[in-house]
Amino acid sequence: MSVSNIHPIFDRLLGRAEKEGQLNQTAKVIWMTGLSGSGKSTVAIALEKLLHSEGYQTMVLDGDNTRTGICNNLGFSLEDRAENIRRIAEVSKLFVQSGVVCINSFVSPTRAIRQTAKEIIGEDDFLEIYVSAPIEVCEQRDVKGLYAKARAGEIKGFTGIDSPYEAPEQPFLEVKTDKETLEESVHNVYHKIKPLIGKS
Ligand code: ADX
Repeated sequence: MSVSNIHPIFDRLLGRAEKEGQLNQTAKVIWMTGLSGSGKSTVAIALEKLLHSEGYQTMVLDGDNTRTGICNNLGFSLEDRAENIRRIAEVSKLFVQSGVVCINSFVSPTRAIRQTAKEIIGEDDFLEIYVSAPIEVCEQRDVKGLYAKARAGEIKGFTGIDSPYEAPEQPFLEVKTDKETLEESVHNVYHKIKPLIGKS
């Protein structure tokens, strides 16, 4: 076959549909928002394990693998958090283009910040999960000892202490980690997202 017969359309990158077809899944971004210590990453990690065992291709993004790398020049001012989330949203969009179910665990404290993420990712692909627990519970858990430091004034601008957290008004789903077991929370998320990412 002569090269001149190759239509330029075949030179384009493979699209999302081909990749989703090969993986037999529909890509989405499962966006977990909530206070530090609410249990976002715990739910995200357990959800990923469950999806993986069912044969889904997944990726978890959280502060551990983004603030140490692609976002390592950012702090916790509202401006830096907005830039943090903008970058995460752009990265998630690339994962969606490659057919992967992306599970994101970020405080993403304000409605405006999450709105930006939703606009970048696209409304249909952005599934907002509010991982909720009263601040008193998060503070009592204080897994990383950061609430104690924030109360002592050693950390400024800590979410829920001296920096705002605006709960989602109409999340796709809320999981209440102070009232549910981890299994229940993961089960609830799984059953709500399954029809949208579904394997046939
Ligand atoms: S976000 O606001 O930009 O979405 P992100 O989820 O990446 O935040 O990081 C939050 C994590 O960083 C918290 O779980 C906590 O471990 C740590 N952290 C350090 N400083 C702060 C702070 N000032 N406010 C909230 N979390 C902080």
